Amino acid sequence: MAYHGDSLAKEAVRSTAYSMIEKRLSNGFWTKKHIVLAGDCGDIKTLYRYGVDVENIIACDCDSKALDRASDWGVFIPSKGCDDLVETVRWAVDQYGINQIGSINADLCGTLQKGIPILKDIRKIVGKKIPTLFTFIYAWDGFYMGKEAAPGNARKAFLTKAAGKPKALLPYQSRTRASYGSPMCVAVFT
Ligand SMILES: C[S@@+](CC[C@H](N)C(=O)[O-])C[C@H]1O[C@@H](n2cnc3c(N)ncnc32)[C@H](O)[C@@H]1O
Repeated sequence: MAYHGDSLAKEAVRSTAYSMIEKRLSNGFWTKKHIVLAGDCGDIKTLYRYGVDVENIIACDCDSKALDRASDWGVFIPSKGCDDLVETVRWAVDQYGINQIGSINADLCGTLQKGIPILKDIRKIVGKKIPTLFTFIYAWDGFYMGKEAAPGNARKAFLTKAAGKPKALLPYQSRTRASYGSPMCVAVFT
């Protein structure tokens, strides 16, 4: 599914999520590395606006056009072959050491079914040491839950069982002028 950029609600939720991370890291928020998916550069733009130096933003994406957009911001893009999120996290931990990574934003925006294996792989590498954001569709994953429209609590229980208890779940509707959007949620692991 193509990604059509940020909604106002997503921007608001992202700010809340990064603000929680800033509280946890204190000054480290500005000195450590933040790993993001390039996408439409929404996370890059936000971190930049918050005063994070572009050399402390590591972007990856499996879409080369997204990487082209990210390179216009001057952020650090590891060499080709490192464009998968899990591989980028592995590379960054090897390169800088786990204590120098400030956050990982797994803003995958897909179903739990698709996202959880990636989140689990990331947590296998970093454990609970690095604040991690994980964005998923808050509906339409009935197949995975074994129900047509599993309630939010069931989704939360499922996510917690798979990846640990999130500090917060921040739901939003990804509505833009172009589309009504979908019910989405950012899980904050700090
Ligand atoms: C919702 S968009 C990310 C938006 C981005 N955070 C922003 O602020 O604009 C999801 C992006 O993740 C990329 N993607 C999906 N799975 C990936 C993976 N396993 N590794 C790297 N990129 C991935 C897609 O190509 C897409 O650009």
